[in-house]
Amino acid sequence: MAPTAKHRLSETDLTTQTLARLDKPDDPRLAEIFEALVRHSHAFVREVGLTHQEWQTGVAFLRAIADFSDDKRNEMILMSDHLGISAMVDLISDRGKTSETSATGLGPFYIPGQPILANDSSILTSDVPGKPMWFRGRVEDTAGQPVENCLIEVWQAHEEGLYDLQEGEAINMRGTFKTDAQGYFGFTAVYPKGYPLPPDGPVKPVMEKVKSAYMRPAHLHTLVRAAEDAPPLVTHLFMPEDPYLDNDPVMGVRSDLMVDVEELPADAEGLPETLAGKASVMLVRYTFVI
Ligand code: BEZ
Ligand code: FE
Repeated sequence: MAPTAKHRLSETDLTTQTLARLDKPDDPRLAEIFEALVRHSHAFVREVGLTHQEWQTGVAFLRAIADFSDDKRNEMILMSDHLGISAMVDLISDRGKTSETSATGLGPFYIPGQPILANDSSILTSDVPGKPMWFRGRVEDTAGQPVENCLIEVWQAHEEGLYDLQEGEAINMRGTFKTDAQGYFGFTAVYPKGYPLPPDGPVKPVMEKVKSAYMRPAHLHTLVRAAEDAPPLVTHLFMPEDPYLDNDPVMGVRSDLMVDVEELPADAEGLPETLAGKASVMLVRYTFVI
């Protein structure tokens, strides 16, 4: 039988043919995602009239992202964050929420499985630059009742904007805490500051070319679970008055994620032992609603 291929295949016929070649995948969700990926990516390529040279540049860029990534640094997450894709997934996960705390971006520096530390202990394993901070948190339900035995993982950068992973092998500035009967958990660390997104991978030069914002507003990362096997609330908490709050390159800022901050004098009463003898201390408070 003669082949049915056309000398000049139309652009829309190509999309139809590509979809027709998917032979009813067993997993209906995978089929839905893959079909939409074909339709939308074809529409994108047609809309911009992608040239062969541009296609090669794009393929080389994706290859560079993959080559740069390893167990510690996932440059693909950075790209997804910059494109607003991670933030869109957060918004979808928040669909139907009313008063619960907003979800926002995991980022590339999470390390699971940090040990549970006693409340009000330090998450610093060595000195890092920054003003001493006492974080006092609470977890409550939507009726305002405390949630006990909630697990809260925290991780952060120091005042110069670097995470432990960017400085070597030693774990620092991260830990897990458990709420008490009042829903309280707390720890000491350093007050975060805004920092540029990781500049050493292939994403940064492209973001410079498209003139995308590159400074993140000061934040702490948190992952909150009501119990060991409960679905996590992944979010960040932002420091108010930060100059970059309105131009976050990964679109992670939500108004309910602002902490309360108060500067305490060095001789303030009731400070945790790890802050004894420090100059003034930044007291940071936040209540999660789950
Ligand atoms: C971060 O906050 O650690 C982060 C988030 C998104 C991209 C890069 C870094
Ligand atoms: Fe961060």
